[in-house]
Amino acid sequence: MPSVYIETYGCQMNVSDTELMRGHLARSGYTATTEPGEADVILLNTCAIREHAEERIFGRLGALARHKVRRPHVQIGLAGCMAQHFRDRLLDRTPHLDFVVGPDAYRRLPALLSGDPFVDVRLDRDETYADLVPNRAAGVRAWITIMRGCDKFCTFCIVPYVRGRERSVLAEAVLAQVREVAEQGYREVVFLGQTVNAYRDGATDFGALLAAANAVDGITRLRFTSPHPSDMTESAIAAMATCEKVAPQLHLPVQSGSTAVLARMERGYSADVYLRLVDRLHAAVPGLALSTDIIVGFPGETEADFDATLALMRAVRFDSAFMFKYSRRDHTKAGKWDETVSEAEKARRLQAVIGLQEEISASINAGLVGADVEVLVEGPARRRAGWLAGKTPQFKTVVFPAKGATPGELVRVRVTDSTAHTLIAA
Ligand code: 5AD
Ligand code: SF4
Repeated sequence: MPSVYIETYGCQMNVSDTELMRGHLARSGYTATTEPGEADVILLNTCAIREHAEERIFGRLGALARHKVRRPHVQIGLAGCMAQHFRDRLLDRTPHLDFVVGPDAYRRLPALLSGDPFVDVRLDRDETYADLVPNRAAGVRAWITIMRGCDKFCTFCIVPYVRGRERSVLAEAVLAQVREVAEQGYREVVFLGQTVNAYRDGATDFGALLAAANAVDGITRLRFTSPHPSDMTESAIAAMATCEKVAPQLHLPVQSGSTAVLARMERGYSADVYLRLVDRLHAAVPGLALSTDIIVGFPGETEADFDATLALMRAVRFDSAFMFKYSRRDHTKAGKWDETVSEAEKARRLQAVIGLQEEISASINAGLVGADVEVLVEGPARRRAGWLAGKTPQFKTVVFPAKGATPGELVRVRVTDSTAHTLIAA
């Protein structure tokens, strides 16, 4: 049987798509391997969100090409957002590449693997892969894609161009997957989508979907990522407040604290509206942990705009944040604008937000020392032999001495120490 090796870059959507491709290819007779040197098909599932991601992948592609020297039959392909971004230009520019397959073309992957070098990057506004069965990674957490694509067109973002328009998986199909993963022994479900809370299937909106999933036996926790602030409706907030399995944790990308920058990003909210939303969420969901995404150095971002981002971070006190230097992307609106912030200044601003966030994260976590927390046990701790690691409802990593606990179990432990990124418990 031919074997396939898949390497995944970028966001959780890609991790989930890799599970989908693996499942689909398995049903066509491909076994999975973790060794590129043994694989007949080498596939990189790629990310196009920032230029840096693409540069890394081009480098990796060059390195993997050596597998063709001894075994010329090996097929190397690119899947995902970068495949869609460069499309047919990729085969010309990368001689050892055999196929290029966009995010809506995975269904045709097995058929296409038996042909000549090809590019399949047709976007399909109806493709949800709802009927394909993913080969999920073993563990306590299962990711379920409930919607794909994005209609928001934030001016910095390439996603709508490479992943196409928004579409939702039918609620019945989502719930069937929730029941299935519960039966398979997963304890936590994470709903995934580019703008996950824009989910809609006729009568079922995102809040109703959460409520329905909440009723499935066997699942202990439900999460979702990433929501857009503008789609954080009353119904979604109410579902978070009333569904006991929906974890008190939200990754709510803000991007900037300056209303002027937010307007040019076309995010659809002001800094004030975002802050009011945060207040409403805290009022509805006790113990809520918030994380976010922040971009520094967007075209036109002044020192005052940047200070507004720092001020918003201080006001919200996010538990954690992903912070990025703006990276100009083809196709996007902002990609046509002049960059006004130098690379050195972007680097300085990035260091400043990272420094501030480290302080805030460390101080929030230090405040938890002495508290009892509930941990869903995931497996061995990475750096301490005989210790286990898991997550709190707030999605904080906790490490603690094993004492007979097993993955999938909920345990209560007392926090004895903390860092900006981890809680240590006895
Ligand atoms: N440059 C920098 N960061 C970006 N992101 C999206 N597009 C860009 C870009 N062009 C960030 C946003 C988004 C996260 C997934 O990646 O913060 O929320
Ligand atoms: Fe990109 Fe904005 Fe869509 Fe998020 S909401 S994927 S940032 S266009």
